[in-house]
Amino acid sequence: MNIIIHENVKQFHLCNDSVSYIIGVLPTGDLGHFYFGRKIHDTEGIAMPCNPFPRPMTCNPNKIDDFSPELSSFEYPSFGRGDYRNPAYEILQGNGSRVSQFEYDGYEIVQGKPAIDGMPSTYANSEDEAQTLIISLVDKLTGIRQKLYYTIFRDYPVVTRRVSFINEGEEQVTITKALSMSIDLPDQDYEWIQFQGAWGRERFPVKREVTGGAISIESMRGISSSNFNPFFILKRPTTDEDHGEAMGIHLVYSGNFRAMAEGDSFDKLRVSIGVNDRWFQWPLGKGESFDTPEAVISFSDNGLGALSRSIHRFFNNNLVRSVYKNRPRPILLNNWEATNMSFDEQSILKIAKKGKEAGVELFVLDDGWFGKRDDDYAGLGDWVVNTKKLPDGITGLAQKVRDMGLEMGLWIEPEMVNEDSDLFRAHPDWVLAAPGRDKSLGRHQMVLDFSRKEVVDAIFDMLFAVIDGSGLTYIKWDMNRSLTEVYSAVADSDSQGTIYHKYVLGVYSLYEKLIKAFPEILFESCSSGGSRFDAGLLYYAPQAWCSDDTDGIERIKIQYGTSFGYPIVSMGSHVSEVPNQQTGRMVPIETRAAVAYFGTFGYELDLNELSDEEFEKVKKQIVFMKEYREVIQYGDFYRISSPFEADIVSWMSVSADKKCAVAAIYKIHTPANGSLPRVKLKGLDPDRLYTDDRGQSYYGDYLMNVGVEAYDREEMFNAQFGDYRSKMIVLKA
Ligand code: DGJ
Repeated sequence: MNIIIHENVKQFHLCNDSVSYIIGVLPTGDLGHFYFGRKIHDTEGIAMPCNPFPRPMTCNPNKIDDFSPELSSFEYPSFGRGDYRNPAYEILQGNGSRVSQFEYDGYEIVQGKPAIDGMPSTYANSEDEAQTLIISLVDKLTGIRQKLYYTIFRDYPVVTRRVSFINEGEEQVTITKALSMSIDLPDQDYEWIQFQGAWGRERFPVKREVTGGAISIESMRGISSSNFNPFFILKRPTTDEDHGEAMGIHLVYSGNFRAMAEGDSFDKLRVSIGVNDRWFQWPLGKGESFDTPEAVISFSDNGLGALSRSIHRFFNNNLVRSVYKNRPRPILLNNWEATNMSFDEQSILKIAKKGKEAGVELFVLDDGWFGKRDDDYAGLGDWVVNTKKLPDGITGLAQKVRDMGLEMGLWIEPEMVNEDSDLFRAHPDWVLAAPGRDKSLGRHQMVLDFSRKEVVDAIFDMLFAVIDGSGLTYIKWDMNRSLTEVYSAVADSDSQGTIYHKYVLGVYSLYEKLIKAFPEILFESCSSGGSRFDAGLLYYAPQAWCSDDTDGIERIKIQYGTSFGYPIVSMGSHVSEVPNQQTGRMVPIETRAAVAYFGTFGYELDLNELSDEEFEKVKKQIVFMKEYREVIQYGDFYRISSPFEADIVSWMSVSADKKCAVAAIYKIHTPANGSLPRVKLKGLDPDRLYTDDRGQSYYGDYLMNVGVEAYDREEMFNAQFGDYRSKMIVLKA
């Protein structure tokens, strides 16, 4: 890993063994983009991959005749000076002008990676693991300084970027747009993959053709959303799972965002991501600064599979920072689908006891334990235990659960309040609401104004009182509606455009306070399933509930899509009852487990309701997961086929030393008298002899080139086995 500086030509080459990222100062003083991709040799004065010589209808800066901004490749493009593509930032000045002229003003290199105050970001575990280049640019007229941060990591094909704005001038300005990164690629020979969906079908990959004009995705919901994830991939049209170039771009952020790929008329492609500029207005007074969230840009020239595996490793090692970092996750039992809010201590203990008998390690009490929470019309905001349901409180219940030999976890939804709550009655102005307008409700609840410190502090105090001394080891932090009427009762009119972002900062600050107070707790984020599954929250909560859709078959699609940008161990995945509560589908318990294994794994049903035969299967599943969770959750993950394209879907995890692999084959529909499909495994050592759990031995090259049979013999000849079958294969070298 290295940052090579060519002072003469003011070029900077960030590189490690796999990637090079080259930027330099342009004749205008702006920062230009020269190259990003596979590692190349360093050369002084590499040329910009496009000729910016003016043509008819282009404009050039005064006194620089041979340079046209619209034909150039920028790193952080400005508005209003001859580049007609989407800018990366805009600054509204006191006189109404939005034109700025930032010019290079030096650089600094620091070992390691500086954190961002109050926001999540990837980090270096030691100073020699990463190097950061900070380029300074100044707008002489306003005195605003931009600091562009670039970090290169020694061990990953990854560059991270972010920007700081510092007002060193005399007058206040208003930032109306401040993306985290922008890059001008030299061609448009790409396909864009976005991860889109809705509640119950989160992060389905959708491919779009890149051409002239803009492709974009965004959220204006105040959360990153299940509609569009703040992550996308650009790949070459020929790139597949195992071959070809691709880059992934994540925003490490949990609120409104916009990502874009904008093709111009000269075959260049401007790619950007950052906080959504719609209704973003950030006044920046003298001496003040503003930090954008971080963007993570990853690269692969070995296909999408390798891209995902680098991202998984990078996030597990350099984003997640809990005591659960790189630790196999506890197998949990959650009562939500079993009881909803109708429970008492006795019924809960009965469910937990059966969980212990099955081998579960952690019992999680979901929604309904506090205030007057018997349905979703009341109680949110009153984080005081409902002693009618739980006479001995959370501490008493947790003690009883612990006495059974289980850890105890709890559900919270700290950002919300119901109209019918003591909190709202005492503080009706603590919610986001526009003056004189009706309030929109979502699930009958309102959103607390987390841009206000006193609101965050009050919620923290209530939660602290519940958690402190209770011995809880897990918290599920839920968030069940999007934001509306984003207006704060205490902010002045000039500052209302800061509230969306300050809300997210408030969420981060509450996470930070809780983590500091209870470092031993494992947090799982949740937002009506996976509506806020993003790299920002992974920094605080190392796992996230993937979806409320627990149907074994739908979950294959959800977990498949999620695996492109997020580690297997980050995906909350449970076995639930049949008929499934979301789809009504009947999926065999083996397949429900075979899907849930590829995540955190747990159960979300009343195990007392199972037949003896099914319960015995559950016990075996738990034994299996305890044995192989390390490989599944932290091994190298290979997608073999797509649930959006194939009827036989498969994926697998391989340990880093390639001595153990766990593969799953899902057979969605069973044909009568079908063919004899084989699945070619991936990621094994071709020269090792592997023995499977049926006692058969094969070389890795056989398993990867000839493959394994998708159906066992008896299944093939007996169609009455039905649909939705699965086969798990364990291989040991
Ligand atoms: C939505 C979550 O996704 C569910 O798992 C459950 O916790 C409910 N909220 C509880 O209200």
